[in-house]
Amino acid sequence: MYMNKEELEKIKKKALEEHIPIIMDDTLSVIEKTLKGKKVYSFLEIGTAVGYSAMCFSELLSENGKIDTIERDVERVAEARKNIKKVGVEDKINVLEGDAVEILPTLNNKYDVVFIDAAKGKYPFFLKEALRMIKTDGIIFADNILYKGYVMSDYNKHKQRTAVRNLREYIKEISENPNLETEILEVGDGLAISKVK
Ligand SMILES: C[S@@+](CC[C@H](N)C(=O)[O-])C[C@H]1O[C@@H](n2cnc3c(N)ncnc32)[C@H](O)[C@@H]1O
Repeated sequence: MYMNKEELEKIKKKALEEHIPIIMDDTLSVIEKTLKGKKVYSFLEIGTAVGYSAMCFSELLSENGKIDTIERDVERVAEARKNIKKVGVEDKINVLEGDAVEILPTLNNKYDVVFIDAAKGKYPFFLKEALRMIKTDGIIFADNILYKGYVMSDYNKHKQRTAVRNLREYIKEISENPNLETEILEVGDGLAISKVK
């Protein structure tokens, strides 16, 4: 199906102008490189925002591949669905509306790729659910894992403390899990890549 790239660029520009946190170019490019040559039939994204990253990822899908993406903000869900139609990729992306903490346990699909990009305080829970649904040879990406450097520094303001604690727990779990081969890159706001052995 034809993808309207001009429309996608407009959506990206608007999101940046409105300070909607969308995937950084460098992070996207690392994900593209990591997935090059890999068959991706099923992709799960946690945190849709206005659909920008999901639309970029839709280009990486193998034939008949699909993306499920979860967003809890009602207005962003509406915007994402509108954007996805405008870009012409509605047959590839399914936006699930609601809190991922409630939606994930109801899913029983097997995914080639999971991309975690939502509430930082929930990363350990998202990991547990991702591990339940990831295929052998699958890859789990987690964005913003270094959270502006807070995760690696001793000093954290009260406001960031829960997020930092949970991001550190995520890193500990992926590093210690014998079934995962993990790298953490300083690209964007920190990207964890965990390949299932
Ligand atoms: C960083 S943005 C996602 C950006 C998007 N992946 C992109 O790159 O275009 C994070 C989004 O996750 C959503 N979110 C945060 N916690 C969530 C949760 N528990 N369940 C569902 N969505 C959540 C927020 O509303 C926000 O729109």
